[in-house]
Amino acid sequence: MKIKLVASGIALIVGAGYGAAAMAQAKPDVLVKQRQAAMTLQGKYFGPLAGMASGKVPYNAEVIARNAAYLDTLNKMPWDGFNNNTKDEKSRALPAVFTDTAKFKESADRVQSTISQLVKVSKGGDEATVKAAINDVNKACGACHDDFRAKQ
Ligand code: HEC
Repeated sequence: MKIKLVASGIALIVGAGYGAAAMAQAKPDVLVKQRQAAMTLQGKYFGPLAGMASGKVPYNAEVIARNAAYLDTLNKMPWDGFNNNTKDEKSRALPAVFTDTAKFKESADRVQSTISQLVKVSKGGDEATVKAAINDVNKACGACHDDFRAKQ
């Protein structure tokens, strides 16, 4: 009896958390932190690959395959953080993120497809092909930053 009560209490608490997330009621400042965290992690796992593509970091196919898989998931995380209710928060997101939403989404989709391609070729592709795929991801990240991220 007692155990049952405790268990249902936990279910209630967990349920409440999911409910709030599903209705996107996270506070604007929290959404900004979360999207920046997702971007920061993309930077962490993409940085070494960009270094390998430009020859500054020794080529390591295993690290590329691992990081590409991480990026494939991480890259899905920032976008719902650019909710319209965050437009007045302090961040490096330019106003265009919230006015030119179609172009922003296109840029997000573009990077996702370049990452999918990198995941594919990172499984046994030759070095030149893999490096080209890394460069394509790099360009897609950079294109969005040029249009939608404030220079620091
Ligand atoms: C569709 C647009 C878009 C794409 C694609 C994109 N970014 Fe960003 N990125 C942004 C914006 C906007 C910000 C600023 C966010 C903020 O300050 O809230 C940002 C911020 C960052 C930051 C700084 C995080 C911080 O805490 O300030 C890093 C690092 C970063 N991006 C890495 C990447 C990498 C790596 C890729 C590609 C794999 C990528 N981004 C793809 C739009 C994009």
